[in-house]
Amino acid sequence: MKFFLDSADLGEIRRYAEMGLLDGITTNPSLVAKTGKSREEVIAAICEIVDGPISAEVIAVDRKEMVAEGMRLAQIHKNVTVKVPLTPDGLAACRDLARNHVKVNVTLCFSPVQALLAAKAGATFISPFIGRLDDIGMTGLELIADIREIYDNYGFPTEILVASIRSPDHVRVAAKIGADVATVPPAVMGQLIKHPLTDLGLEKFLADHRAAGKAR
Ligand code: E4P
Repeated sequence: MKFFLDSADLGEIRRYAEMGLLDGITTNPSLVAKTGKSREEVIAAICEIVDGPISAEVIAVDRKEMVAEGMRLAQIHKNVTVKVPLTPDGLAACRDLARNHVKVNVTLCFSPVQALLAAKAGATFISPFIGRLDDIGMTGLELIADIREIYDNYGFPTEILVASIRSPDHVRVAAKIGADVATVPPAVMGQLIKHPLTDLGLEKFLADHRAAGKAR
């Protein structure tokens, strides 16, 4: 399973890139806004840190404007993947960008049939938002299982990029289902690494080492 970091924070991106964990990055307008920098500046800086697909989202909502904006974003770096919303204009823009050899991540997917449409429109990635479905009392991971089955039934090459991840268990189940990518927020990345028994075990090893040193 590929791991992307769902963040525009360069410090966090460097931190997890240094651990060798990152295959790519996803950003969205909310994450870029938190940095206080321009989207172009942030995306260019991320591309210098991580060698993999870097999602940059369009702000336009009209097909032609999305395509023009997407083409501009794609000029920033060869690894830029243009993110478009799952709307009628977004699907048409996806088709146009894909025909221009630009990789597209179709975002804000909340149903299996929306994912089917994105694949037909030539998306490189589909981003189903599982946490936001859980937030409204649904089971986001069921969406991942449904999309996996549908894509496998027809051999669609579109990669399932699990988004809106809230917990390590989301990652565990998504990996068992066979999702291609998990885009993990920094807080959950930290939780994935940490285990109380690892900390306790290390503490005990070090204490035993120190005690043996004193005895010698
Ligand atoms: C995906 O690309 C989005 O940036 C992200 O996963 C949204 O997550 P949220 O629901 O935690 O905002």
